[in-house]
Amino acid sequence: MDHDRLVQGLREVVGKDHVLTDPDLRSSYEIDWLRQYIDDTPCVVRPHTAAEVAGVLRVCGEVGVGVVPQGGNTGLVGGSTPRRGAVLLSMRRFTDLGQVDREAHQVTVGAGVTIEQLQQHARAVGLDFAVDWGARSSATVGGAVNTDAGGSRVVRLGTMRQQVLGVQAVLADGSLIDELGGLPKNTAGPSLSHLLVGSEGTLAVVTAVRLRLVPWFRETAASLVACDSLMHAVAMLPRLRQLSSLDAVEVLLPEALQVACKHLGVAPPIDPSSAGAFVMIDCAAHTDPGDELADFLASEQGVMAVGAQREQLFLIRDHVTIAIGALGKPLKLDVAVPVMNLDRLVRAVRSGIREHAPGARLIVFGHLAEGNLHVNVLDAGDAGPLLKDLILMTAIELGGTISAEHGIGVAKVDWLERLHGPAHVAALRAIKQALDPQGLLNPGVLLP
Ligand code: MLT
Ligand code: ZN
Repeated sequence: MDHDRLVQGLREVVGKDHVLTDPDLRSSYEIDWLRQYIDDTPCVVRPHTAAEVAGVLRVCGEVGVGVVPQGGNTGLVGGSTPRRGAVLLSMRRFTDLGQVDREAHQVTVGAGVTIEQLQQHARAVGLDFAVDWGARSSATVGGAVNTDAGGSRVVRLGTMRQQVLGVQAVLADGSLIDELGGLPKNTAGPSLSHLLVGSEGTLAVVTAVRLRLVPWFRETAASLVACDSLMHAVAMLPRLRQLSSLDAVEVLLPEALQVACKHLGVAPPIDPSSAGAFVMIDCAAHTDPGDELADFLASEQGVMAVGAQREQLFLIRDHVTIAIGALGKPLKLDVAVPVMNLDRLVRAVRSGIREHAPGARLIVFGHLAEGNLHVNVLDAGDAGPLLKDLILMTAIELGGTISAEHGIGVAKVDWLERLHGPAHVAALRAIKQALDPQGLLNPGVLLP
């Protein structure tokens, strides 16, 4: 690779201030926030327009160096940190917030807008953005599109895929696709925008997104519910789903509640060892949903509602990942199975740990209604790779997936074909080959 030619070419496209070669300036882009993935990049390039992105791709193509797009760098599977000497393409300068279309309940925003900025922008006119999770202040819209982010409100409003009406994106050859028109009905062929949702920066660089907005439910009520077991928690779902104000159903197994409270230095709202699973139910509506939630809790047999403030519950919930990260480098997996198989999944994981890494610590939490568990194993030692295989293969065998919302990144490429089968992966590979024959975009991610 001709480093000088690369840097000079990129400077001509974006200006010298936006090509970072100094190691101190590059360093925060070269490592993920949980310090699991780290590698050098020859430079960080920070374009501001789609035309500049096209210019960056042209220069990188000419020099023969890959490009790793990065948004808020909150990913958990190594999909947006540099590797193989690739240029780091930071999308954080795409911060345009379009005017909210109140008639259509839509907005167009730049890929570098954070989820929190988008929520605030929508709330300024009485609307809201549907997808929400703990990293909202750093995670960007572009990253969320690329991973098909989910978070806590999927039970009511769906994942990122359901919010995207269309995208503007630069293809590897520098051409631009633009589906920002916002038409809710458009059957003129397959949607290229939706092909890009979940493609993890391997097919195109998303520069702007047209999104649906949802009503802003200002009245809320939440409760933490202690259940004997995970099975008992799952058994609440049929009736929970009947609640018109149901907004989130999160689950924390006792260790997760304990580590988050300890990290925050707060007393747990209930003794974590007093139950088998804790479910955080959040309701939101235009009028106070407290009665609807209270009626549910009063009529549900065998559960105990814990008195706690909603803010406190969300603080605890949002700190589980941070608390785990402070304890070490976990084996971190994001799997989903049909809800009826959740208990079998957790039992298989526990038994695998007992057999192969008895000293390891298992911390499980996630999104109950989607059967999506974040399985974290601390101190797995040499058994890490074996446990990873065991957990991912168990999820597949139980009819689930190896990634529910974090993506494949570099962490799970070896399991993609085992999940989807060879025909599916061959079709994905053919699409990649057609759109990016040089393999410029996010090399090493998603496809084995
Ligand atoms: C969450 O639900 O908090 C996130 O997906 C982060 C994680 O899995 O650690
Ligand atoms: Zn999650």
